[in-house]
Amino acid sequence: MEVIVADYAGFCFGVKRAVEKAREAPKPVASLGMLIHNRQVVDQLAREGVRPVASLDEVNCGRILIRSHGTTPETLVRARDKGLDIIDATCPYVKRAQHLAQKMAAEGYQVIIVGDAAHPEVQGMLGWAGPGAVVVPDKKAAAALPFHPRRAVLAQTTQPESRLEEVAAALRSNTDTLVVHNTVCQATHQRQEAAVRLARQVDVMVVVGGKESANTRHLAELCRATGTPTYHVERAGELCRQWFINTRRVGVTGGASTPAWIIEEVVGMLTGEEKIMVPEEEKEPVTTQ
Ligand code: F3S
Repeated sequence: MEVIVADYAGFCFGVKRAVEKAREAPKPVASLGMLIHNRQVVDQLAREGVRPVASLDEVNCGRILIRSHGTTPETLVRARDKGLDIIDATCPYVKRAQHLAQKMAAEGYQVIIVGDAAHPEVQGMLGWAGPGAVVVPDKKAAAALPFHPRRAVLAQTTQPESRLEEVAAALRSNTDTLVVHNTVCQATHQRQEAAVRLARQVDVMVVVGGKESANTRHLAELCRATGTPTYHVERAGELCRQWFINTRRVGVTGGASTPAWIIEEVVGMLTGEEKIMVPEEEKEPVTTQ
């Protein structure tokens, strides 16, 4: 069975940078929320002294790491007021979107963010855009908005570009002056395109990544939409032999928060290589009876 790994599979630039910052930070350090949506990496970092916390209420001294999704200006001010040492791993592309949101709001535009209102990146952007900003998930929600003379539209970095275009088109009917800033990250777009291209060339697709990772789930949906049977797994151990009966070619890709070693582990299992590389710290302790 031939196994082909898609281009751009795995960590994007922003996630790689955040994980490196976490590793380089003096320990212990608290991370505000899960640093990335990958349980294996978060567990591994916890063993190295990076403790995820749900809110600043849980940290009264020391260091706080801001993840690649970024956070609100209020949270940064609060962390400073608490005397915390801030290690900011906000992805520069997310930071650009935050600054645009702040600038457009300051210039009197109503800021419209295309995305998922519950996602931490969008919640952070809303904080920068101020109280008048609105999150819309799609063109239907955009068309239902009341008239506004000036609007600026931005997107959560991982949204499809087509959705930003659809929302902008819908807003033209209820807005006099509309400014569109394309804040969609090319890393997402490139990974999705490469995965879909590969899905069309293989018999089965395997998408590797955290079950709670929205970008990994979306990658799996896109691959499935090509008609190629697609399986989303977190680890190699979840692979089932039945999925690959009469399969000649398998495609593998991974979400932006999937480390290379987990993708290699899956490829190793698929190609039948005996030795699968697993970092020392991930190995289960050997128990004797
Ligand atoms: Fe940044 Fe794009 Fe990754 S915005 S965190 S490089 S998906």
